Amino acid sequence: MLVTGKQILDHANEHGYAVGAFNINNMEILQAVIMAAEKENSPVIVQTSEGAIKYAGIEYFEALVHLAANKTKVPVCLHLDHGTTYNTIISCIRHGWSSVMIDGSHHDLKGNIAVTSEIVKVAHAVGVSVEAELGRLSGIEDQISVSEKDAIYTNPDEAVEFVNATGVDSLAIAIGTAHGKYKGEPKLDMERLDTIKKMLKMPIVLHGASGITEAQITEAVKLGVNKINIDTDVRQAFTDGVRKVIETKPEEFDPRKICGPARDLMCEVVASKMRMFGSSGQAWTL
Ligand code: G3H
Ligand code: 13P
Ligand code: ZN
Repeated sequence: MLVTGKQILDHANEHGYAVGAFNINNMEILQAVIMAAEKENSPVIVQTSEGAIKYAGIEYFEALVHLAANKTKVPVCLHLDHGTTYNTIISCIRHGWSSVMIDGSHHDLKGNIAVTSEIVKVAHAVGVSVEAELGRLSGIEDQISVSEKDAIYTNPDEAVEFVNATGVDSLAIAIGTAHGKYKGEPKLDMERLDTIKKMLKMPIVLHGASGITEAQITEAVKLGVNKINIDTDVRQAFTDGVRKVIETKPEEFDPRKICGPARDLMCEVVASKMRMFGSSGQAWTL
């Protein structure tokens, strides 16, 4: 069943676990994510970036995800990841996305509040949830000094001001993760997370979570992260699966025999994330 981001994340916040938000770019990735959610009896967030929408077409994702959500008993949220323009966000709302992210993190606080508030007003009017971002994710190869940390990581007082001013349903914060593949091992600022969660008490979102150690993920969930974004690890599983068939059976040219094993591998990766995030067994029925 299709549910909103708020329904999923409020339940996670109340029960102290996190829900995986997995980026999809094609049918096989979506099927792998839904198969894993059913196997784990877990709620799930399926998210599309603006790039993914450009690649597949908004109507394709609308039809595919609504079909998948209607066919399954587990709660499924269709979310726009890193929405940057008013038009894209409105278009997703018109096409049945049940949650949107407005990423105004490149603006200063005042500017971020302005663009985010505009989206909250229209999205909430039609029952769609809103995620926003405050603070900037660092580059994967950046070495962050203590003074730089204060400049780009989320400031707890600003987070309170931002949430009060905008009325967002969840907040993505910057505590040391980055998008893509890490070179070294990132160390998350757990103290900052703890402070922000204690002040806000609302669902907190962690972007760039592929490649973060299980120990750090477990700790972050314990401290109040309720949505964890994963793209790179699933992309890697897809490509590993395809590569394995092509390398071991170079004569193979049936797309089903190339994409099928990749779909199984992605399903395993997604299911293991659900267990790690504590969402396994948390699917509820409405
Ligand atoms: O945070 C970004 C996501 O991994 C989406 O990446 O814009 O290449 O689809 P993308
Ligand atoms: P990763 O690709 O690093 O998992 O990040 C995903 C993400 O944050 C999508 O918004
Ligand atoms: Zn992200």
